[in-house]
Amino acid sequence: MKVFLAGASGVLGRRITWQLISKGHSVIGLVRSQDSENAVRAAGGKPRYADLFDADSLARAADGCDTIMHAATAIPTKQKPSPSDWAMNDRIRREGTRCLTEAAAKTGAKTYLQQSIVWVARPKDESPFD
Ligand SMILES: NC(=O)c1ccc[n+]([C@@H]2O[C@H](COP(=O)([O-])OP(=O)(O)OC[C@H]3O[C@@H](n4cnc5c(N)ncnc54)[C@H](OP(=O)(O)O)[C@@H]3O)[C@@H](O)[C@H]2O)c1
Repeated sequence: MKVFLAGASGVLGRRITWQLISKGHSVIGLVRSQDSENAVRAAGGKPRYADLFDADSLARAADGCDTIMHAATAIPTKQKPSPSDWAMNDRIRREGTRCLTEAAAKTGAKTYLQQSIVWVARPKDESPFD
């Protein structure tokens, strides 16, 4: 596979890159700074600059890729984030996802994969979660 990966420099993205490369696939990682470029290279991927909120720039960066993956995030790192601290993360999930799926359609990629998360939890008294 030739994979275009948004969030390639992150905790998840670096591991996805390394695992794909170790299985013989190639990875183009979306980057937006020298630091993220270095992180993608160190994991074995090829960095490419594009704007997550611009489907045309993503399509150019992902040209020739058969798979597009979304592992970008901006989850606030504060202990008690306010609703506004989540704004960029919300934008990445809504607008970034839309732009990446548009780019997948423009490039003719066969597969689109999106990271997710599942929490399993129960209060101590075993009542249902509100
Ligand atoms: N880490 C885990 O154990 C884990 C487990 C389950 C699910 N997940 C999910 O996986 C996703 C990634 O988590 P993570 O821990 O890998 O996050 P992370 O380490 O914070 O990485 C975030 C990635 O998103 C990129 N990014 C942030 N803002 C961007 C923007 N405006 N445009 C383009 N790229 C942007 C970052 O690039 P820069 O380097 O340029 O900032 C970085 O590559 C999250 O949605 C999380 O819920 C993670």
